[in-house]
Amino acid sequence: MDNELNQICELVRKCGELIKNANRDELQIDSKAGHANFVTEYDKRVQDMLKAGLKEIAADVKFIGEEGEAQGFSDKGRFFIVDPIDGTTNFIKDYHMSCISVGLIEDGKGSKAVVYNPYLDEMFYAAKGLGAYCNGKRIHVSNQPLENGIVLFGTSPYNAELSEKSFETAYAYFKKALDIRRSGSAALDLCSIAAGRAELYFELILSPWDYAAGALIVEEAGGIVSDMDGNPIVYDRPCPVLARNMD
Ligand code: IPD
Ligand code: CA
Ligand code: CA
Repeated sequence: MDNELNQICELVRKCGELIKNANRDELQIDSKAGHANFVTEYDKRVQDMLKAGLKEIAADVKFIGEEGEAQGFSDKGRFFIVDPIDGTTNFIKDYHMSCISVGLIEDGKGSKAVVYNPYLDEMFYAAKGLGAYCNGKRIHVSNQPLENGIVLFGTSPYNAELSEKSFETAYAYFKKALDIRRSGSAALDLCSIAAGRAELYFELILSPWDYAAGALIVEEAGGIVSDMDGNPIVYDRPCPVLARNMD
């Protein structure tokens, strides 16, 4: 494996220990803008640890993280876009469906990606042109059509105005597929598409840190990622995301 990617995986694995061994009496839950949008002491601690660790791995790469360091992206240069805990509500509820997501974006395109689920000890990673992997094994999207498929979706919970449309869209897909799932972690949903565990994932609005890593992992596993209209996704602002195994 690429040395830089290897180092990022090791760093992210250490951060995973922090999440898994969190002292549940000291989560220090605060609210952020939007409906049911929370941050805990652990989101902040993991982000700090990632920022320091990534600086040691690649000092020249700029850092963007969900917790208060979300600005400054440009489609020129190299940026880490980081979600310290994707699935914070799950983390608060001890639901064991959260991950750490680190995407390296170069000149506006996904270049390297790591998503780690500490509860299952599943390390997903990809590098542009080199394929996608989970725990050392190459992964591929499913070859099944939607009618034999599972559809994943996110409810865009912090944007209440999108709820109705989200559920209408989910209902339309539900009628075309075997069934629907909602995990609570966009990055893990994207990895599920990449690993061939489900056929389609959509969410009507996400932030770049939710998909900066997962999108490349899907593409390197042979899948397709776009906005809901089939246009390329962007990394400088929130964006709808549609990921699927085939068109
Ligand atoms: C959220 C999760 C969730 C998705 C939301 C995201 P967070 O991220 O990925 O599955 O539906 O849109 O914002 O806030 O837990 O990092
Ligand atoms: Ca997130
Ligand atoms: Ca988060």
